[in-house]
Amino acid sequence: MGARTPLIAGNWKMNLNSEESVNLVKALKEGITGNEGVDILVSPTFVNLAVVKLSIGDSGILLAAQNMHYEKNGAYTGEISSQMLLDVGCTHVILGHSERRSIFKETSEFINHKAKAATEMGLIPIVCIGETIEEREAGNAFAVIKDQLNGSLKNFKDVGKLPASTVLAYEPVWAIGTGKTASPEQAQEIHLFIRQWITDNFNPETASQIRILYGGSVKGDNASELMGKPDIDGALVGGASLTADAFLPIIKFKEN
Ligand code: PGA
Repeated sequence: MGARTPLIAGNWKMNLNSEESVNLVKALKEGITGNEGVDILVSPTFVNLAVVKLSIGDSGILLAAQNMHYEKNGAYTGEISSQMLLDVGCTHVILGHSERRSIFKETSEFINHKAKAATEMGLIPIVCIGETIEEREAGNAFAVIKDQLNGSLKNFKDVGKLPASTVLAYEPVWAIGTGKTASPEQAQEIHLFIRQWITDNFNPETASQIRILYGGSVKGDNASELMGKPDIDGALVGGASLTADAFLPIIKFKEN
């Protein structure tokens, strides 16, 4: 994994009320020692960002939103801007999750605008990409990933610069919430492909610094094998991030 500190990120999706969110952070704080050698991040719903931030205190746990709009403010009913996320204490924002792409019809072009706006405002985007089972079975996984990278990071390509703090998350759609994890080998070959794409479109230095997370049914019992692969720099965890009992073993994967 070289110099890249693994990032273990919990995407709570549309789960947990305010009390449950605060209790989960409390349990995580009690369970971590600070010597795990990983960065830890949680991503509650918008309405619980503020209470979760308070609960995080000085524990060093990072806070992300699950989405944002690319405009700073204005007549966008129901939307939240990067400024608002920074104001409430977010450092990161998840963009282009496959649920946003498939259920809410977000395109790579739309995600590209958000990623650019987030970066300009000082928020770190976690840009998600991943193929469906049909695309994989048709032998198109690499082409789909390349397309999503070209589209979702177009603004960065145009200027030839991608901040090294940017996080990418490879999440095969067929592995999300299904209990079917990509094998460490399947994940590694896509991660390597993504890193090569960064080298080709930016430079080797950026490629060696950027963290590429794997997501899709990551659990305590498969995390260490996945993280053991050279190009897998952490995990974006859905279901198993909703309880401390399930999330802590992933955070502590190095102990296995
Ligand atoms: P899962 O979700 O861990 O429940 O498969 C991952 C994700 O959607 O980020």
